[in-house]
Amino acid sequence: MVHYSELGFVNSKEIFKKAIDGGYAIPGYNFNNMEQLQAIIMGCAETNSPVILQVSKGARKYANQTLLRYMAEGAVQMARNDLKSNIPIVLHLDHGDSYELCVSCIEMGFSSVMIDGSHLPYEENIALTKKVVDYAHRYDVSVEGELGVLAGIEEHVSAEKSHYTNPDDVEDFVKRTGVDSLAISIGTSHGAYKFKIKPGETPPPLRFDILEEIEKRIPGFPIVLHGSSSVPQEYVEMCNKYGGKLEGAVGVPEDQLRRAAKSAVCKINIDTDGRLVVTAKIREVFANQPEVFDPRKYLGPAREALKELIKRKNIEVLGSANKA
Ligand code: G3H
Ligand code: 13P
Ligand code: ZN
Repeated sequence: MVHYSELGFVNSKEIFKKAIDGGYAIPGYNFNNMEQLQAIIMGCAETNSPVILQVSKGARKYANQTLLRYMAEGAVQMARNDLKSNIPIVLHLDHGDSYELCVSCIEMGFSSVMIDGSHLPYEENIALTKKVVDYAHRYDVSVEGELGVLAGIEEHVSAEKSHYTNPDDVEDFVKRTGVDSLAISIGTSHGAYKFKIKPGETPPPLRFDILEEIEKRIPGFPIVLHGSSSVPQEYVEMCNKYGGKLEGAVGVPEDQLRRAAKSAVCKINIDTDGRLVVTAKIREVFANQPEVFDPRKYLGPAREALKELIKRKNIEVLGSANKA
């Protein structure tokens, strides 16, 4: 067992409180490889933003759980020693699906875990979430729970099927589980195809009425938004121009996220946008410089573009820049 404090991570308690009081949201950025991790840390250090490094079950499988943990520890050292940055860094399990997975992450030095019981019947979600909270809080690790179902990976169904969070449940859920933050469903969904709309149409607005009702029931409690990529059309077009096939990809408009960030929403999860930028850039290099075969020559520009995206998100969308 290694405690996260020995690795230089913090839990989410303080940064969430500051974010709610200050009317901004902390970014939850996912990583699976070195270049993504570098871009996240550099982008957040350069904008002086707190950051939540997110590791999914799939990321642990892809990159190896031990290597990922040491990479995250190395990222803290890089921030402190090389970038001379003191930004708060949280290491967070994204979409934990079992008690055992949460325990394993906590034992490896994670400072925050999500237990996603949103697909379970209500009482089972409570029981599982409470079990994780009881273990995590022994080590001062933060726990994110979820109520309501986002379409996409949580249901393994198509993107239009979601069940909004019922405001009547949130107070009971939070009290009985002891969670530190709550992910809710108000119209976002995972992936690059969030809404089925025709060209020229705008996506339907998020359900701010539900968010406001939830805020009334649990005033000042940290709320999390998953599925918050905006799917920038310039990168969709770049992908498609260089041989990709991403027709109809559309995300949550950034002004909606900016509005949410000013409320009790204090964490906003973004993964798809990063994937899109990296892929668009690599496709561009492959198309324009077919002679290139050194991975640094295409992963480098991809990393740079991702860093710029992250900086822009922190400054213009989340409002987390200069809040470290
Ligand atoms: O919400 C899920 C994240 O985008 C992680 O996705 O399970 O494919 O790593 P993943
Ligand atoms: P996106 O697919 O919209 O980037 O959502 C990511 C997410 O919610 C990670 O948990
Ligand atoms: Zn998610």
